[in-house]
Amino acid sequence: MSRANSQLKIAVLISGRGSNMQALANHAETPNASYQICLVAANKPADGLSIASDAGLSTALIDRKSYTSKQDHERALAEAIEASGANWICLAGYMSVLSADFIARFEGKIINIHPSLLPDYKGLHTHERALADSQKFHGVSVHLVTPVLDDGAVIAQMRLPVRSADTQESLSARVLVLEHILYPMVIGSLASGAVTLDAGQVCWQDISVANALSLSEDTTLIFG
Ligand code: GRF
Repeated sequence: MSRANSQLKIAVLISGRGSNMQALANHAETPNASYQICLVAANKPADGLSIASDAGLSTALIDRKSYTSKQDHERALAEAIEASGANWICLAGYMSVLSADFIARFEGKIINIHPSLLPDYKGLHTHERALADSQKFHGVSVHLVTPVLDDGAVIAQMRLPVRSADTQESLSARVLVLEHILYPMVIGSLASGAVTLDAGQVCWQDISVANALSLSEDTTLIFG
């Protein structure tokens, strides 16, 4: 990929409410947007699909229940993504582990957002587990997708302090605010060339992108 990639076209895969998809879509509508969403696809009926279609985005429900095998479902998903013209895939609450074959088909082009400071708390229930461990800090990571769950190179993270009064709900709500800032920033940076990913290596070329973010004082942006 060239350094500046103003033609970044993304497919966003969702399974639920789609708030990160909406944050990506909102950013894509801003005058300086450097990427466009060409497909929002879901593997089950998801609230985010109607949000996306109301926003004028192309949507596809590729329901896992309509396919006898995971392989057939992923083939249909891959074909829809390729037909849309997307050259990157953003997972945004997509609740199915993609197979190694699917990941190989889009090698190095699949990004995920995960609500923890990876490599801590891969998998589910991240806020609950961080609280149970009395962590001082928690946050969100955007990372490359590899066949190992939540294991690919971290592109960027945002970290916040856990408060003594935090509950699972309050912590997840505070992290979600950061998710909606971090994901568009990372995808915009991929599009502009501010970050490059070569053979799975993350290389930030321009970290001044951080200046445009309005972060509260207790929030830290960490470049991968
Ligand atoms: C987010 O917390 C995201 O980090 C995780 O799944 C959740 C999806 O939420 N992967 P939404 O559907 O984007 O609101």
